[in-house]
Amino acid sequence: MQYVYDEGGCSHTLRLFPTDSCLSAGEWAHSGMLQFDYVIIGSGIAGLSFALKAAHSGSVAIITKKAKAETNTAWAQGGIAAVTDEADSFEAHVRDTLDAGAGLCDEAVVRGIVRDGPERIRELMEIGVQFDQQANGAPDLTREGGHSARRILHARDATGREIERALLDAVSREPQITLLENHMAVDLLTLRKLGHAGPDRCVGVYVLHEATGDVLTVRSDKLVLATGGCGKVYLYTTNPNIATGDGVAMAWRAGAQIANMEFIQFHPTCLFHPEARTFLISEAVRGEGGRLVDKDGRDFMHKYDKRGALAPRDIVARAIDAEMKRTGAPCVFVDISHKPAEFVRSHFPTIYERCLGLGLDITRQPIPVVPAAHYQCGGVATDADGASTVSGLFAIGEVACTGLHGANRLASNSLLEAVVLAHRAALALTAWQPPADAVPELPEWKSGEATDVDELVVIYHNWDEIRRLMWDYVGIVRTDKRLQRAATRLRNLAAEIQEFYWDFKVTTDLLELRNLVAVASLIVDSALLRHESRGLHYTLDHLQTDERFCRPTVIGK
Ligand code: FAD
Ligand code: SIN
Repeated sequence: MQYVYDEGGCSHTLRLFPTDSCLSAGEWAHSGMLQFDYVIIGSGIAGLSFALKAAHSGSVAIITKKAKAETNTAWAQGGIAAVTDEADSFEAHVRDTLDAGAGLCDEAVVRGIVRDGPERIRELMEIGVQFDQQANGAPDLTREGGHSARRILHARDATGREIERALLDAVSREPQITLLENHMAVDLLTLRKLGHAGPDRCVGVYVLHEATGDVLTVRSDKLVLATGGCGKVYLYTTNPNIATGDGVAMAWRAGAQIANMEFIQFHPTCLFHPEARTFLISEAVRGEGGRLVDKDGRDFMHKYDKRGALAPRDIVARAIDAEMKRTGAPCVFVDISHKPAEFVRSHFPTIYERCLGLGLDITRQPIPVVPAAHYQCGGVATDADGASTVSGLFAIGEVACTGLHGANRLASNSLLEAVVLAHRAALALTAWQPPADAVPELPEWKSGEATDVDELVVIYHNWDEIRRLMWDYVGIVRTDKRLQRAATRLRNLAAEIQEFYWDFKVTTDLLELRNLVAVASLIVDSALLRHESRGLHYTLDHLQTDERFCRPTVIGK
């Protein structure tokens, strides 16, 4: 592999032309400033889909903090929701999304995303995504909670892995795209941060190269956050390690508005096993007839909702939580053992194999499950094209809050939203011309007197403390007192962590900890502003839904 550096006509500016579009850690040793027409942070469905479209009109860098496929996307199981069956309708999908969202969805956004779904699915198939098909060639559609029809396209029970594979393949064939693995975005650079008094906009990003510890300055007028969610803020989560809320924290520090962070979705059925704490048992298992039962095999869901185990997730997760508290049981069970073994193995091969590896044969035994943090319904506030409130900065995918999900996301609407918004953001950003005024030279990162972190234990201790306090005080069921307690503790932790940030050389662990505490605080602050129970925000102090709060919670600097 060779790199060609070109002075690019601008002093201290290095323009980089890699001859191979995928660079891995250790292969990338350089300093100075890089410049691209588009910089996208994150290599999940949102980032990769955007990059493929933007590459037709300029150079694109995808910056991703770990290996390229280490994403929430690659872990997605159930599938992607879209209206592709004649028996289904846009109206039904819209209605189901609005119902799940508990009055807080932006109906125009919902209608637009649902309407665009089939076209984006067709494009995914064109680049090689292989969804399961029926014998007649039509998509094989599964069902999940809150959906009134079978409308989930899937690739067995590993839909995200298939989508990520196909997108990465397509990206690797695109010469305009440079993919930087093991590069972590540290902070966004805005004109205001650079001391400009005029209108603000985003003009670049600092990026830590994990292998060398160097922090690079990357210049671009068009930046897109596609950094996924923040499941790792909680002790128990279905999310992979990358989900530390970096995008929301960076956007917040850059002055963007953040919306609806109190609505954290807890998936009802995460495997309960000491050796596999983050493994999801897809809702599609219930969609295909799996029963949700207690330890004696009794169905308890009908006590809570007439839709039973296929009610929207907020209702099912809360019912499980209540049942566990009432009986003192450590878990409940999903039981699909009444279905033919071959049906279970062919529909859910990943879940079957994983459980079998842990000594659990799901064709014969019920699966122990508990709720766990799964999805961030709020995020960086954007318009229907993904534009944030900071000019030049877009946010797409789970990091964003477009108005689609409201107070609770409908199952499998996340992959849909990501792919639709990637398309729209690409259209909007390719058409957008940044102001012609000169951007000052971006300062290089300075470590100053910072030394290496002397005691890693401090980082790990704070990391654990945040995740445990969020689980205990800001979980499925909340109270004002617990939220206040969490807010106080988080303020102290944030001050301590900010000191580490100034005193020590940055590492990915330290940066993630800094982001984690910022996002945890945004969740708690948003929850404290909502004096009602709605969707995923359920508090014993305000049990009723209150129409005065029928609006998004927006926090801005
Ligand atoms: P991600 O796919 O999470 O990608 C984020 C990227 O950003 C990663 O590459 C990460 O490394 C990178 N990144 C983060 N911070 C930084 C930083 N500071 N610097 C550089 N890079 C950074 N949704 C559905 O619709 N259907 C499903 O069936 C489904 N199943 C799911 C199952 C599981 C177990 C989980 C965890 C989620 C599931 N979801 C599902 C949700 C869905 O997978 C995610 O919401 C979606 O994949 C998010 O895509 P994304 O592109 O926004 O982010
Ligand atoms: C699942 O397969 O249960 C996850 C679906 C989703 O999060 O949308």
